Amino acid sequence: MRIGVFCSGGDAPGMNACVRAVVRTGLSRDHEVIGIMNGYQGLLDQEFFLNPEGAATMDLRSVSDWSRHGGAYLGSSRSQEFRTEAGVAKAAALLSSHKIDALIPIGGDGTFKGAVELGAKWDGQIVGCPGTIDNDLIGTDYTIGFSTAVSTAVDGLDKIRDTAESHHRMFLIEVMGRHSGYIAVHTALAGAAEMMCIPETVTDIPEIVAYLERLRQRKKRSVMMIVAEGDEIGNATVISEKLKEANCPYSTRVVVLGHLQRGGSPTPEDRLLATQVGAWAVESLEQGADQVMCGRRDGRPHLTPFEETFKTHRPIDESLKDLVRVLSH
Ligand code: F6P
Repeated sequence: MRIGVFCSGGDAPGMNACVRAVVRTGLSRDHEVIGIMNGYQGLLDQEFFLNPEGAATMDLRSVSDWSRHGGAYLGSSRSQEFRTEAGVAKAAALLSSHKIDALIPIGGDGTFKGAVELGAKWDGQIVGCPGTIDNDLIGTDYTIGFSTAVSTAVDGLDKIRDTAESHHRMFLIEVMGRHSGYIAVHTALAGAAEMMCIPETVTDIPEIVAYLERLRQRKKRSVMMIVAEGDEIGNATVISEKLKEANCPYSTRVVVLGHLQRGGSPTPEDRLLATQVGAWAVESLEQGADQVMCGRRDGRPHLTPFEETFKTHRPIDESLKDLVRVLSH
């Protein structure tokens, strides 16, 4: 088989490890692997990874030392052109002209929505790997990059706690997650934050202020509130303003961790997950899989139709949400 691999959407630490696994597994099974640069846009622009001989096929050395590095060496993009019908048709025609039999896109919901569109116009197989720091896809216990993003956020939280304790302050720390509180809830629990605002729960300012009053009475020196950027009433800056207007008993500061969470060397968990799903995706293609994401559930490969992966928002365990408040005293 001639397999095209690419990264798409927001980059995630571990994407390089996943490409490495696709390339080395593919070559060990006598397939050809084509590295498509810069996601769907790179496909439209016919940008391919070139090996030192100038050929557009990846060889064993193409991916040497890739596992431990963050970012996406193949590049990534959110292509506007691919969102058009003409763009999808052009991509399908290019895949056929380059004699590509199968694709392994590594990305999140936008990537898989694109794969569904492409599948309607192209007769090759597509098996995706879950690559997004948001951990918001149905069909896998974790997504590539989530572990690293949480680790980075917790590291930031620990450092901010030091200064917050010195100055008896409250910090609102904004983490990524446009539609999902997954990074927020894991960061809050691992970093022992007192409060959390996520899109999956109702953010009630008077109730928060009343609770902060109680924490103040209990002599809490500092308060960490983790805010998912997609909280329904606004981001950390908006929430901080609303708290001030409601006479928040703590002096507040806002820290937006932003794209910091998307970079850095992937954790061993992310490297392992990326490596497993990359290898499994190649095996799944051999077994005839198409239009599915290859995730990992309970340590085993798990195939989910693309449409299912993004159909609903992935729910967060209620007990995790409650635990943040219970442990905040
Ligand atoms: O990768 C997903 C994500 O990290 C979201 O949580 C975030 O809102 C978004 O990407 C931002 O992406 P960009 O700045 O690349 O558009």
